[in-house]
Amino acid sequence: MSEDKKLTTATGCPIFDNQNSITAGPRGPLLMQDVQLLEQMQQFNRERIPERVVHAKGSGAYGTFTVTRAIPEYTKAKFLSEVGKQTEVFLRFSTVAGERGAADAERDVRGFAVKFYTEEGNWDLVGNNTPVFFIRDPYKFANFIHTQKRHPQTNLRDANMQWDFWSLNPESLHQVTILFSDRGLPASYRHMNGYGSHTLSFVNAAGERFWCKFHFKTRQGVKNITGEESANLIGIDRESHQRDLFQAIERGEYPSWTVKVQIMTDEQAKTFKWNPFDLTKVWPHKEYPLMEIGILELNRNPVNYFAEVEQAAFSPSVFVPGIGPSPDKVLQARLMSYPDAQRYRIGTNYQQLPVNQPRCPVYHYQRDGALSTGYGGSSPNYYPNSDSSTPKEAPEYREPGLALGDVVADRYDSRDQDDYTQAGNLWRIFSEDEKNRTAKAIAGALSGARQDIQMRQLCHFFRADMDYGQRVAKALNIDIDPSFLQQNQQNNPQPVTA
Ligand code: HEM
Repeated sequence: MSEDKKLTTATGCPIFDNQNSITAGPRGPLLMQDVQLLEQMQQFNRERIPERVVHAKGSGAYGTFTVTRAIPEYTKAKFLSEVGKQTEVFLRFSTVAGERGAADAERDVRGFAVKFYTEEGNWDLVGNNTPVFFIRDPYKFANFIHTQKRHPQTNLRDANMQWDFWSLNPESLHQVTILFSDRGLPASYRHMNGYGSHTLSFVNAAGERFWCKFHFKTRQGVKNITGEESANLIGIDRESHQRDLFQAIERGEYPSWTVKVQIMTDEQAKTFKWNPFDLTKVWPHKEYPLMEIGILELNRNPVNYFAEVEQAAFSPSVFVPGIGPSPDKVLQARLMSYPDAQRYRIGTNYQQLPVNQPRCPVYHYQRDGALSTGYGGSSPNYYPNSDSSTPKEAPEYREPGLALGDVVADRYDSRDQDDYTQAGNLWRIFSEDEKNRTAKAIAGALSGARQDIQMRQLCHFFRADMDYGQRVAKALNIDIDPSFLQQNQQNNPQPVTA
């Protein structure tokens, strides 16, 4: 054994015996003081985290996305801006209904979730191997999934539950048809297509919006197996897809997919014969042809399955500038659901784990939480702040609002409203004594702040009422330039000078 690698406890204490518990004599009993044994047992009890509530069984690999046709006319997303540009990706395939130990070759939809580690942050495309879904309203999702999982009493998958739901919800028919066709039994993850399924939005540098759908066409060729082959395969190998993917990559046979998009203009969306945001419908390829934009190749296996695949967190809410949501109701609900599930399943700071971490600098004001590694250090943990070295908004990334009938969905500036009249009215009804007590209380609290902050706040008191400002200034022992008092009327936003 190498001299450098002495076995230790998790706290670093060298261990001279890692195979025998401390006992009172050779026959026992054990002694509580065997902290090595306790540490090992306690850690073991916590090795599992909750499995994903759906898509629990999966396989993942890293790879590269290479642009073959840049599409700046549709999106300003930088990673799609130049032919030849490469972006690291992590892809997790999965089955939907089964638990973490389910057999890979079962008839089921397959998940196809891709994380693009772009220079402008991560972009997650969390799709399936089918272009449509069972429902078009997210209200039905939890009930639908219950019917695909186990019966509450028998703990068995249950045909009554499944077909009861499907027969009561005919919007599922398109997806049910795919599921029970040959496409419901892919031979492996390498031999199936992937689809973003939802309609997403693209915004270009000129602020024009387009609607789009993503397709990943396998370059290994689509290969499916029959129901009989599936049953036989499961009998001999429950991890057939995991084995196939891992071993192909180890052999250097890197699986790849041609990435294509369909584009629809806003005008076309208004006249499309179906709702273009309905997840149970495709956009016919004849009307909306597929345009190749790149190649995605998987070429590196994760080193630690738990850390990198089990703890991977994909979410349809993870966007980059130039790619965003559409009004699709199911997509809208998913924007909330995934990060919530991941905070529960992995933990508050799941985005700091290496597999989830963006490969570009990350600057924000979120702090602390379980297992924080100290993000933010000693810098201010609030925004806005007066420190010029802290992260600031980047207005150049503003995207156009989305017109929804008579209203436009946008971030409206709430800071242009009258913040002064009512505060001033309140001040004016105070008695003399209360005014003095209030000014004194404010001065007591404000005197602890830096002078530039005091002056900024004083300005607000003056705007509410000149007397208000004067009394607080006096209580702070700040002399106000008399010309300021003459020139400034109530609500006049002029700076105060000491
Ligand atoms: C996983 C919710 C629809 C694809 C998940 C997870 C949740 C969830 C909570 C587990 C996330 C985690 O713990 O990391 C929902 C809801 C839906 C919905 C509420 C609809 C209302 C869809 C649709 C697709 C999809 C339409 C595909 C088009 C996936 C995939 C995963 C997943 C691929 C696994 C991601 C991974 O590999 O980690 N879903 N889902 N889901 N969902 Fe959905």
